[in-house]
Amino acid sequence: MSTNNLFSPFNLKTLNLKNRIVMAPMTRSFSPNGVPTDDVAAYYQKRAEGEVGLILSEGTVIDRKSSSNDANVPHFYGDLALNGWKKVIDEVHAAGGKMGPQIWHMGIMDNHHSGWVPPVPFEGPSGLNRPDFRNGIAMSEKDIEDTILAFGKAAADAKRLGFDTIEIHGAHGYLIDQFFRAETNLREDIYGGKTLPERNRFAIEVIKEIRKQVGNDFAVIMRFSQFKPSDYNYKLAKNPQELEAWLTPLVDAGVDIIHASQRRFWEPEFEGSDLNFAGWAKKVTGAPTITVGSVGLSGDFFGAFAGESSEPTSLDELNRRFDRGDFDLVAVGRPLLSDPNWVAKIKAGKTDQLKGFSKEALGALVLE
Ligand SMILES: Cc1cc2nc3c(=O)[nH]c(=O)nc-3n(C[C@H](O)[C@H](O)[C@H](O)COP(=O)(O)O)c2cc1C
Repeated sequence: MSTNNLFSPFNLKTLNLKNRIVMAPMTRSFSPNGVPTDDVAAYYQKRAEGEVGLILSEGTVIDRKSSSNDANVPHFYGDLALNGWKKVIDEVHAAGGKMGPQIWHMGIMDNHHSGWVPPVPFEGPSGLNRPDFRNGIAMSEKDIEDTILAFGKAAADAKRLGFDTIEIHGAHGYLIDQFFRAETNLREDIYGGKTLPERNRFAIEVIKEIRKQVGNDFAVIMRFSQFKPSDYNYKLAKNPQELEAWLTPLVDAGVDIIHASQRRFWEPEFEGSDLNFAGWAKKVTGAPTITVGSVGLSGDFFGAFAGESSEPTSLDELNRRFDRGDFDLVAVGRPLLSDPNWVAKIKAGKTDQLKGFSKEALGALVLE
């Protein structure tokens, strides 16, 4: 089956992409004290040279003292870190690429295995990372207000540095997702509530502040996941009606593109249809969507963290769904860790040269 349609342009506001393939955001922990190095810039530039349509950066944290549990995760604040990011975007642009940072606050976390801890306790809606695990404080209204402003500041800085878009990390059980989830948001003020639309409030205020900072013409992506790392089968929205009630207010608040994070893109989201998460998100909101999850690989990414390798697989099922109009963009993670030229090889039909994924790629910034 032809991949030609994946190589058609995509245009939305500030985003003008030469193809539909997005590098998924992937934490690399190669930025000592939160500052992206020249090696980090070279790593992203190689993916731009390899014809990735849009690069989403690894999660990069906002200006809150406990927004991260890892000293080597990049900051998106402070002159040193922002100068590092300026170098990244300039090198990506020089190679003909487009890029947005993934703006992140981890919320309540497990302590990092390195032993490093932030100078103040982790903060989240209710101090909980998952139902049975408390490791930090419940945010005050002032904490919430300052955090919303810090998200906005990061977005404004991204635009000022010349990035083409930003992605808000609202997925995978981190801060914003902790507000969405009933079991981690036990608040009795306006940021809590029995229903998912009520628990949307924090996210809506973050989106509105970001929109205020970047203006209407700047493309804003937001990432969501039903699954949580502590519960792969968890569903915030149990049916299409709940999905619509969750996502539509967020689109109305200013999200342009929904990044629907899934472990395996071919898995149906709800019974009675083969549509996946991105397919349903597009259907119920009308917004463009990005799909993701084991595209071109045999195993999923939690297997990767457990040390599993994955072999290259066919893109036929992906193309079938793409050509049907289920989603607009396709994010690819692990194949691009191992091989900066994955997209160029797909484009040229050199599938015999694809590398798959092995755990060694997690331990280095692979440049060729
Ligand atoms: C090493 C690694 C780090 C990741 N870090 C992030 C992250 O910072 N933010 C995020 O939203 N997802 C993160 N993910 C998830 C990926 O963006 C992607 O959704 C996942 O790997 C599935 O895509 P794949 O099967 O093509 O690898 C990470 C995945 C991997 C393998």
